[in-house]
This record gives sequence, C-alpha cells and structure tokens, in this order.
Amino acid sequence: MAKLGVNVDHIANIRQARQAEEPDPVSAAVMAELAGADCITVHLRADRRHIQERDLELLRKLVKTKLNLEMAPTAEMVEIACRIKPDMVTLVPEKPDEVTTEGGLDVLGHKEQLEEVIRTLRSSGIRMGIFIDPEDNQAEAAYEVGAEYVEIHTGLYAQSTPGEARACELARIIQTAKASADLGLSVNAGHDLTYRNVIPIAIIPEIEELNIGHNIVARAVFVGLDQAIWEMKRLIQTAKDII
Ligand code: PXP
Repeated sequence: MAKLGVNVDHIANIRQARQAEEPDPVSAAVMAELAGADCITVHLRADRRHIQERDLELLRKLVKTKLNLEMAPTAEMVEIACRIKPDMVTLVPEKPDEVTTEGGLDVLGHKEQLEEVIRTLRSSGIRMGIFIDPEDNQAEAAYEVGAEYVEIHTGLYAQSTPGEARACELARIIQTAKASADLGLSVNAGHDLTYRNVIPIAIIPEIEELNIGHNIVARAVFVGLDQAIWEMKRLIQTAKDII
C-alpha cells in the first residue's frame, strides 16, 4: 500500500503572498504528521518563492517521519542539503519562470553532473532519488547515475482527458514503475494528484509513496488540514477496494 508524503510548499505560498509569518509550513508539517502523513516534502527553490531556509532548518528538527527535500541539482542546493541533511533528496528540474515543476529531470542529458551530485549527497548519508517522466530510459539513466529511487511524474496523466488519452498516460506510468522496480529502484510518484484521480495510481503495486500537495491544501481550506490529509490517506489505503 502506497504511503503518503504531504507537500507543504502550498502553505508557504500563502504566507509568502503577504510576506507574513503565517500560515507556517512548519506547523502544517506537525499537523500533517499527526493526521497520518508518512513523509513531509518541501521544495526549496533558488528564488525562495515559498519554502525558506528557516523552514528547512526547523523541519529538520521537528519532522518525525521523513523529510524529503526536492531541489535542483545546483551547487547552492548541494551545500544546503549536506548541511541540513534531510532524510531524502529528490532532484527536480527548475525553471525560474515556471508556476510549478513542469516535468521530470532529463537524466539522460545530464548524467555526469547528476552522478557527482548524487555521490556527494549519498556520502552525506542522504537517500537519493530523481523526479523523472514516465520513460524507461530515464529510469535506467537514474539507476546508472546512482539514484536509489525515482519519483514518476504524474502530471501528464492528471492533465490528460479522461478516456483513451488518460489510459495511455497511465499505461506509461505502470510500465516505468515496473521497469524501475526491475532495476532495483524504489518507486514513488506525484504531481497534480487529486482526490479524483489518485486511485489508479495508488493501486500500482510498485509505487511505494505518493507526494501530494496542492489538492490536499485546496481541500484543507474548506475542511481543515487534518481531515483533508486523513481523507487522502484513507483513499489511498482503500484504493484497491474502490476500483
Ligand atoms: N512531486 C514533485 C517532484 C513536485 O515538484 C511536486 C510539486 O512541488 C509534487 C510532487 C506535488 O505536486 P502537487 O502540489 O501538484 O500535488
């Protein structure tokens, strides 16, 4: 059964919109764990548009489950990760003008750079993964550069029209999850997952963890964070019985 990583960047988005102190993503992380989150995920961006280094430092002290740091494979971020030592780092591509991460990292095109970043971070005791598009050759490249897990990008699946197009995207995810697991990689997935589209992803046997942020926080606005997290967790846990 897949575990649930809760991405609290979206709480920081609200705080940063007013350059205020609240709402605090660190408080959200504590609540998320109490509500059943198995992992807390944050993306520290070069532009610090949501999560700040102060958040990361406090989260490192407070998170009792696992702290998953999403970051671009840059020298600045490597230095921060080696200092903070999150439990795991998921390498993601980052463009300054994007609204959110737009797709997986092109591992094939950056093998040397990624190999060095992964070696450095693994030697600091950090579990290393890469966010990839659902393509078997990217999974193979991730394995070759030393990643221990992949997180498969579910954005195209989520944005595709229900019907043939969505079935095709789902099939790509299923295939890459299997290919990754066959290589010995652990498999996570995430991006744009919602209460309405998560079930077919949650039942893929190779997928160990789902990282979900925006849709949980969107529901939390109306029902509260603990209920929103509990509902998502229950949906994932009972996905097999629902389908
Ligand atoms: N996984 C990765 C690698 C991401 O970059 C994000 C967004 O920060 C998520 C998961 C969560 O996506 P969403 O907010 O759409 O649930």
